[in-house]
Amino acid sequence: MKYLENAVIKSINMLNDNVCDIKLHCPRVAKNACPGQFIEIYPDNGVNILSRPISICEADKIIGTVRVVFQLVGAGTKLFATKKIGDTLRILGPCGNGYSIGENSIESSVVLVGGGIGVPPLLYAAKSIIGEKTIILGYRTSPFLADEFIRYGNVFVCTDDGSEGYHGNVVSFMRENNISGDYILSCGPKIMLRYLSEYAVENSIPCQVSMEERMACGIGACVGCAIPIDVNGEVVNKKVCKDGPVFDCKEVIWQ
Ligand code: FES
Repeated sequence: MKYLENAVIKSINMLNDNVCDIKLHCPRVAKNACPGQFIEIYPDNGVNILSRPISICEADKIIGTVRVVFQLVGAGTKLFATKKIGDTLRILGPCGNGYSIGENSIESSVVLVGGGIGVPPLLYAAKSIIGEKTIILGYRTSPFLADEFIRYGNVFVCTDDGSEGYHGNVVSFMRENNISGDYILSCGPKIMLRYLSEYAVENSIPCQVSMEERMACGIGACVGCAIPIDVNGEVVNKKVCKDGPVFDCKEVIWQ
């Protein structure tokens, strides 16, 4: 069930020049949110009519808040970043299918792998899984949010430019360190997910990937976000916004 809410901004901060962190009061969305889902935020300037899909970084079901951390990549997201505490944003959510977190998560050892703006949704996953967690976070440069993961597991930071942590990408780090677990949850750029998927298959580790795809309607009404998925040997176009964004890595036809 999705809800339309006029969400009041409780806090808004820039984590760096290009990444904005907003906490919204939206009790019905918060109550129903699961890790890996997203919300649609509607620009209110009358110019940009398309909503923007933004991953849920955290949800507090008791206080009724949802936190989103997003990159300023276009007019819509730049507009959201100009808002102030007390302003409202019209949102729809929670949208999509999130991660399947095993019922036996207490006994599981889980590997969380995030890249760039794919890092924020893993914070909610890290918080929701009770088992042992290995958390691998990749950035081009200048990590953000990494310190907030420390209380939930063993955190490893990788940067492309070597400015912090391991010098290289997350999959190279995993190969060099033989990282393993009962399952992998991931979110990040397609190229990262593709190489991660290869690693997971080689090592027989079940892996869920959250696909970042351009979206138009965000609610399954167009085919703007369709990707080819292998369903029992047959290629079927599935909508990232409705059928995903999380898929089994073995189902995705990487191209
Ligand atoms: Fe329209 Fe997914 S964005 S169907």
